[in-house]
Amino acid sequence: MDAPSTSSSYDTIANIIRDSHATRVVVLTGAGISTSAGIPDFRTPSTGLYAKLARLKHLPYPEAIFSYHYFKHSPELFYAIADVRHPHNLKPTISHAFLALLAKKNLLHMVVTQNIDGLESAAGVPPEKVFACHGSWDTQRCITCKEPFPDDRMKEAITQGIVPRCLATDACDGIVKPDIVLFGEPLREGFEEKAEHKVVEADLVFVMGTSLKVHPFANLPSLACAGVPRVLINREKVGDLGNRKEDLCLLGNCDEEVRKLADALGWKKELEKLWEEAKTEHVKGNETDGEEYTVRLDAAIDKLAGMLDESLSISKGHKSMLERHLTEKLARLPKPPERDEK
Ligand code: OAD
Repeated sequence: MDAPSTSSSYDTIANIIRDSHATRVVVLTGAGISTSAGIPDFRTPSTGLYAKLARLKHLPYPEAIFSYHYFKHSPELFYAIADVRHPHNLKPTISHAFLALLAKKNLLHMVVTQNIDGLESAAGVPPEKVFACHGSWDTQRCITCKEPFPDDRMKEAITQGIVPRCLATDACDGIVKPDIVLFGEPLREGFEEKAEHKVVEADLVFVMGTSLKVHPFANLPSLACAGVPRVLINREKVGDLGNRKEDLCLLGNCDEEVRKLADALGWKKELEKLWEEAKTEHVKGNETDGEEYTVRLDAAIDKLAGMLDESLSISKGHKSMLERHLTEKLARLPKPPERDEK
């Protein structure tokens, strides 16, 4: 088991930041910073999305639902769970607020996130300081003719779990996809400039809430220059974090670790205030309840299981119907004349 973080780790990081040794902080984030908002991550055993999807026997592999190839072929599967991956009216977490506080103090060089939930911006991180390398739900377009699709129609489709179709005047009827990056698609433009270069320029790198399992994002921490402190805030060690002598690992829940770090920095009150403001500012109307979100995810996966069973039995039924039809047709064909062996 990994050793718990000591209070000296928080003080060491606080000293690096407070004494202005660091002014170009790069934060690399993943699903773990949004779990406390109510969006389950992907790979945590039992609660992660992939563990839940693993029970779907007819899905070739859990990640298939986020593969472009699979999406083109069976978009209804993606849309069956889209509603419970979309952030709707979820509140940013205190970890997101910490990023906004770094920006407010002019310390933030860039947040590079794999998340598509937009909660960094919701917490108040300026848009030019966020690079969402896997895209976002903000816009969408037809995968055939690339025509943008209206937001209100997209929201309707997501809420109802139906596949939106292109509305372009030439009636292309292509499938509409949110501008998120699926497996098999190129990353969002700018990865080199807004992610790789920023890490190279960084004088402090935070890695928060990611398993570092997906490339090329997973490679980013290794681009930090020698001697630059890399701070991991995660439930467990990931990648090569902890291997360099200047690395620091705060192992635990992001929100708790961020609070302890803010305390060491003397920022705790300011952080809590900024978070409260962000929640009030961002959540308009009915706020989405995080726990209810998880219950809805389980229900969506049950529905998906039903859809996959049904489509398999339809294709099995279709296959045996065709076989019967063929046998009957062959039986009705006139018999060929017997060959005279002589
Ligand atoms: P993962 O689910 O792979 O990893 C989340 C990490 O965060 C794990 O190490 C968890 O232990 C940790 N974690 C979860 N909740 C936490 C919390 N409250 N506090 C601290 N740590 C926590 O998610 P990502 O690394 O973001 O891509 O996954 C990367 C990509 O894989 C995603 O962008 C997505 C997925 O397939 C696509 O869909 C293209």
